[in-house]
Amino acid sequence: GTIALLNGPNLNLLGVRKPEVYGRATLADVEQLCRDEAARHGLGIEAVQSNHEGALIDAVHELRATAVGFVVNAGAFTHTSVALRDALETIEGPLIEVHISNVHAREAFRHHSYLSPIASGIIVGCGIQGYAFAVARIAELTGA
Ligand code: DQA
Repeated sequence: GTIALLNGPNLNLLGVRKPEVYGRATLADVEQLCRDEAARHGLGIEAVQSNHEGALIDAVHELRATAVGFVVNAGAFTHTSVALRDALETIEGPLIEVHISNVHAREAFRHHSYLSPIASGIIVGCGIQGYAFAVARIAELTGA
């Protein structure tokens, strides 16, 4: 089985952007972390990063029927996108929402998520380790 790993806008700059908030690890490090955790459960990872809302929606449509679950850090689209939520509402398996930073300790506009009501679980403020937790959780939920 394959887990879809979706990262939204500006997460391509991981390691460079606000390292005091998001840490020094890069997106490649995140993707490798997820591959390693998935492999422990006999799963693979299909990783997509885009700065474009529509491209993320297209990726959901492409992976919705085949992925056993989705790990999604939608970045700022978390707080704005009804369209991405509608797309994610069509997936088969569990959705785990991840935020590297503790969004609840930050600006009020980061406290609301359009994705949280449709997520199986939410991991915030655990740094990039949160992604590995999310992968492990999908393995648990899907019996892998
Ligand atoms: C983020 C939090 C969002 O508010 C922000 O727009 C991001 C990253 C996080 O991982 O902490 O781009 O999703």
